[in-house]
Amino acid sequence: MDNFNTITDFINKSPKTELHLHIEGSLEPELMFKLSKRNKVEIPFKNIDEIRSAYNFTNLDSFLKIYYEGSNVLISEEDFFDLTWEYILRCKQDNIVHTEIFFDPQSHIPRGIRFETVISGIDKALKKAERDFGITSKVIMCFLRHLDEESCFDVLKQACNYKDKIIGVGLDSSEKGNPPIKFQNLFEQAIREGFLTVAHAGEEGPPEYIWDSLNLLKIKRVDHGIQCLKDEKLIERLVKDQIPLTVCPLSNVKLCVFDKLENHNLKKMLDKGLRVMVNSDDPAYFGGYLNQNLIETSKALNLKLEDVKKLIENSFKSSFLNEENKKDWLKKIS
Ligand code: HPA
Ligand code: ZN
Repeated sequence: MDNFNTITDFINKSPKTELHLHIEGSLEPELMFKLSKRNKVEIPFKNIDEIRSAYNFTNLDSFLKIYYEGSNVLISEEDFFDLTWEYILRCKQDNIVHTEIFFDPQSHIPRGIRFETVISGIDKALKKAERDFGITSKVIMCFLRHLDEESCFDVLKQACNYKDKIIGVGLDSSEKGNPPIKFQNLFEQAIREGFLTVAHAGEEGPPEYIWDSLNLLKIKRVDHGIQCLKDEKLIERLVKDQIPLTVCPLSNVKLCVFDKLENHNLKKMLDKGLRVMVNSDDPAYFGGYLNQNLIETSKALNLKLEDVKKLIENSFKSSFLNEENKKDWLKKIS
C-alpha cells in the first residue's frame, strides 16, 4: 500500500484542474453574512454558526432550497467578483491551475439582477486570476432544469451576447422528474450557437438520463454520472468513447447518495476504465474544496498513488483546454 502521507503530499503539490464547481456553491457562510449586511438582504439565519448548522441535507432538493436562499445575497457586480475571487484564492491554495466553473443566471435574473452584472463580476475575477496567479478558466452557464423551456431559451439568448466569456452550457438543479428530453430543443439551439454542452445526469436520476444526455443533448461530459454502474451497456459506451464523468465524492455523501465515503463507487468506476475525476461541486456547502475531496476519498477508498495520478490526468484530458495546453500540464504530473 502506498503511504498515505506520500499520497497527501502528491495531491497537495500536483497541478490540478477542476471541472465541476458551481460558483454560487462556493459562497462561504462568512461572505453570505457579510453580503446580507452589505445589501440589506434578509437571510433566515442569525449568525454564521446558524448558517453552518443548517447544512444537513437529506437529498438534492433539500440542499437546493438552502443553496438558492443563500444566492439571494448576491446583488451587485462587486458581489459576484468577491464570490469568484474567494474561490480563486482557494484554487491558489489547492494548486488548481485551471478551473471550469458553472453559474446559474436563472437564480439571479428573476430577482431583478441583470445577466451583465453576473457575468461581468465573474469574468473580472477570472481575468485577475490569470493576471495575478496564471490560473486559467472557462465558464459554463447552467440552465435550471426545474424551470420551463421558455425561461431557458431567454437566458440562452442573453448568453449569445457573451460568447467570448462563456464556452458552454450545462443542466443543473432538481434532476428527478426533469429528464434531458425536456431540453432537447434548447440544447440543439445552444449547439447551433456554438456552445459546448454538458449536463448533470445520474446524480440521483436513473442511467436513462445519462443515455439521453449523451444521445439527445450531445454532451461532452457527464456531471456526476455515478448511477452509470447500474447499466452494463452504458458502462461499455462510456468506456469506449472515454466520456468524462465529473464525480464529486463529498457532495454525494452530503446529499446521501452514498451513506459514507467508504461506500462511494469511485474506485469501481476507475477500475472499469471509466474516465472519472474528482471535483468539489458546492464546496462551501459540502465541507471541502478539491484537495480535501481528493485526500478524504483516497483515504476512504484506499486509493493507490497511481489511482490518484489517473484522476488528476483524467481531469486535464477532459478539460476544455486546447490540446497543446493539456499536453504541457500532463507532462508536469509525475
Ligand atoms: N446537482 C444539481 N444541481 C446543482 C448541484 C448539484 O450537485 N449543485 C448546484 N446545483
Ligand atoms: Zn453540480
